[in-house]
Formats: sequence, structure tokens, C-alpha cells
Amino acid sequence: MRNLGIIGTNWITQQFIEAAEETKSFKLTQVYSRTEEKAQAFVEKLGKSNINLSDSLESFFASDDFDTVYIASPNALHFGQARLAIENGKNVIVEKPSTSNVREFAILDTLAHAKGVYLFEAARQIHEPIFKKAQEFVKDNQDELSGATLSYIKYSSRYDDFLAGNLPNIFNPKFSGGALYDLGVYTVYDAVVLFGAPNSVDYEAEILNSGIDGSGSLTLKYDKFDVNILIGKTKNSYMPSEIYFGKKTLLLDSAGDINRLTEANEEKKLTELPTTKSDNPMDSEAIEFARIMNEKDTTSYEKLFDYARKVNRVLEQARTSAGLVFEADKEE
Ligand SMILES: NC(=O)c1ccc[n+]([C@@H]2O[C@H](COP(=O)([O-])OP(=O)(O)OC[C@H]3O[C@@H](n4cnc5c(N)ncnc54)[C@H](OP(=O)(O)O)[C@@H]3O)[C@@H](O)[C@H]2O)c1
Repeated sequence: MRNLGIIGTNWITQQFIEAAEETKSFKLTQVYSRTEEKAQAFVEKLGKSNINLSDSLESFFASDDFDTVYIASPNALHFGQARLAIENGKNVIVEKPSTSNVREFAILDTLAHAKGVYLFEAARQIHEPIFKKAQEFVKDNQDELSGATLSYIKYSSRYDDFLAGNLPNIFNPKFSGGALYDLGVYTVYDAVVLFGAPNSVDYEAEILNSGIDGSGSLTLKYDKFDVNILIGKTKNSYMPSEIYFGKKTLLLDSAGDINRLTEANEEKKLTELPTTKSDNPMDSEAIEFARIMNEKDTTSYEKLFDYARKVNRVLEQARTSAGLVFEADKEE
């Protein structure tokens, strides 16, 4: 088991630590938080002792009690924290989206490869067996592939706070938030992994008064078909996602967190495909990241890295087409 340091003390970090430890992939050894009290409260909540705590990023990364860091801070902070981690020789697992723009991604790409450390983007869903089943279905029916409609629309737990006049990180352009970068990234991952990089991208966004997108629709154009994507953080949708193969369709109950796959055949008969789904949706990625590092499986690593590179580019193209600007862009 590899030793793990973490940045970010919200529920998602707890979920990753549980996945990492249940699957015996990583063992938590150090926690960074902006305050030591919060770091202490976090380890107490996990029921742990003997975990090193740090409220300084410099001393956190200088520590040799972990070789891999999991970063789950607001999106705009990923770049600086990942860069510091790499400069200190740490492997990085960074929450999606790994960076705010292509410029930042290219810097991390060069640095991580020069330093010989691993940089993983935590796109959890593409590692799950249920996603791989969908991938297999697409591959087996490649000749008939004729497009997709992907939907991921969930009312954000922070939207009421936003409506009350506050500015939670996820609705703040300063932190590279918004529907596209928070939920759209899952759907773009679906498209890039299942169909490859699109030829062109267009995003029509409903922009909130903070300057970020609350919801919107994307069109990804490929040689022979289009992928239409609906995303949003200001409402709830119960619409399934669909991948089309002429007369046949594969239905996914969600584009971001697939729990059920159903095939509609040429006679329009619905059959649920047998799949497995772990209780913790981060189990599969934790296992895969550890496996790649332990086995030095550079082929799998570079394949994942290339997905991340392509997704990052699509996100930036989409954002540009919608006129969305982050503060991180102004560094250029
Ligand atoms: N894969 C998934 O299923 C999934 C689910 C949810 C979120 N995520 C990703 O996880 C990341 C974190 O999301 P979140 O909703 O947990 O974000 P968040 O609540 O806004 O912040 C996460 C952590 O970052 C630190 N932080 C908050 N505001 C900060 C600030 N202004 N300056 C410096 N540090 C700050 C806090 O830790 P301290 O106070 O301890 O410093 C906080 O616990 C995002 O990239 C998101 O996309 C992934």
C-alpha cells in the first residue's frame, strides 16, 4: 500500500480515503488543511490517530511520509497545488477537472513527465466496471454508432446559498466553477473515452449573475454523428442518457454516475445488461491508480493522461465558445 497525503477536507476526500483503504490501495498518513483545527477534526471524523497534520503546503510537500497526494480543493487551486506536489517529487491524483485551462495542463504535463512522477485526473466513472461494459458495447457495435445524448443535471446543494446572495466556490469564476467544469466534465469524459476527441465543440450556456454557467447544452461534432449534452446545477433532471446505433440504443441511467445500462434492440425490447457496481464509486479508480504505479504500467498511464489532455482541451473549447472566462485565464 502506498502512503497518501490529502488536500481538502470535504466529504469527497473522506470518500476517496475510504475507497483507498477498503481496496488496500493507499494508506492515509498526512492531512493538509488551511487550519490545523480542521485537519484535526477531519482525522477525528475518520476515527484515526497517528496521522501527521499540516497547515502549510510547503512543509506538507517537504514531508517524506507519503509519496502520493490526493487533491480535492476548489478547481482553480488544483494547478498550483499539483505543480508544487510534482516539484516535490510526489505522485498526484487530482480531482476533476485537473486544471482550469490548456495552458495550465500543458505546464503540468511537461513537469510531471520531466520529473517522472504520475499525474492522474480523478475521473472516477471511467474506471468503473459498468462504464467498461458500456465501452465494450460501443466497441462491439462501432459500425452502427450514430450519436448520443448525454445528460447530467443535478440541483446543487450550494445553489440555495447562491440564491440567498452568497458566492459558494462552485458558482464562482475565481475558483473555475460552473456546470461545465463541475458536471459537464463527466459527460465530456464519456464522449472522449467512448467516441474519441470531437472535431468541434459548441456550448450554449445559461450564465448566472456571478459570470459562470448554471446550466447549458453542448454539441460535439464527430465525422459521422453528433453528441448532444445537457448539463446543469440549477435544476434536477431524471432523463436517461442514450447512445445510438441506428435501430438499437444503449440507455445509461446517468451520464456521470451510471448505475444501470439497458439495451433497446431493433424490436424496441428493453433488456438490462448485467453489470457490477461498487458501493463506493471511487473504489475502481483507487485500485487502478495504485496498480498503474505499482506495476509501472506506462501504457495504461499514458492512455489515461491522453484522455485528460483531450478532455481539458474540449472543456476550454466549450468555454471559449460560450464566452466564459475564469480568473485563471488572466494569468496568461
Ligand atoms: N469525483 C467526485 O465524485 C467529486 C465529487 C465532489 C467534488 N469533486 C471535486 O473535488 C474538488 C473539491 O470539491 P468540493 O466541493 O469539496 O470543494 P470545496 O468544498 O469548495 O473545497 C474543498 C476543500 O478545499 C479547501 N478550500 C475551500 N475553500 C478554499 C479556499 N478559498 N482556499 C483554499 N482552500 C479552500 C477546504 O479544505 P480546508 O478548509 O481543510 O483547507 C475544503 O474542504 C473539486 O475539484 C470537485 O470537482 C469530485
